[in-house]
Amino acid sequence: MKFATALLSAGLMAGTALADSFAWERLNKNDSVLVILDLQEGLFNLARDWDATLFRDNMIAHSALGTAFKDLPVVLTTSAETGPNGPLPQEILDLYPDAPLIKRQGEVDAWDNSDFRAAIKATNRKQIIIAGIVTDVCTAFLARSLRAEGYSVWANIEASGTTTKEIRDISNDQLLRAGVNVVSLFAIVCDLMRDWRHTPGALELLPWLDRYMPAYGMVARGHRAAIESGEVIPGENVLPK
Ligand SMILES: *[C@@H]1O[C@H](CO)[C@@H](O)[C@H](O)[C@H]1NC(C)=O
Repeated sequence: MKFATALLSAGLMAGTALADSFAWERLNKNDSVLVILDLQEGLFNLARDWDATLFRDNMIAHSALGTAFKDLPVVLTTSAETGPNGPLPQEILDLYPDAPLIKRQGEVDAWDNSDFRAAIKATNRKQIIIAGIVTDVCTAFLARSLRAEGYSVWANIEASGTTTKEIRDISNDQLLRAGVNVVSLFAIVCDLMRDWRHTPGALELLPWLDRYMPAYGMVARGHRAAIESGEVIPGENVLPK
């Protein structure tokens, strides 16, 4: 009993120390950069922890964050793209024809490439939003290198993929221990936006969400349909408010 209590309090203390070791920080659209990391056509086949259609949509949605938040600098990078890893999908390339695209010839960790480091440093921003294939290598290596260099990192969990769910889970645990914010696409959008009345806010983001996050797009469509042409039908009228 005593032993169990000691274990429990040690666990609680360790948990407290872990929680306290990283200051809570908000994503700021004025201080963040979008990184499109190795979301390459060949590597896509390794993203087996997601349904392929959903993952294709997720990686395009991640890549499109810079079309909603137009002041976000965007840095694209690929790993050995003339080999089996392949290029970035054309839909992603077409989004940012003028953004730096660092084609790494061999470096696995993007931070090992001096052009990539220079592209990040040139933005003069400290918060890096990333997602890549595969989670345990491309995403985790870069995220930890960025943390070691003093950057804050937001990893979009929906747009990184890997070979198995077990590998995904241990990789995301590792990111959490490194103080990375492991978050959803919607969390990134809402933290960048902060307030529906801002610009971009509801006016710009509802059409964006309708395209890239249909769960929310359909909420808005359903609400509009109810107001424009809806009526309360029998049975609904007796439900509690
Ligand atoms: C971003 O910068 C603009 C213009 O300086 C400012 O109005 C806004 O409050 C800033 N946003 C955040 C989240 O700090």
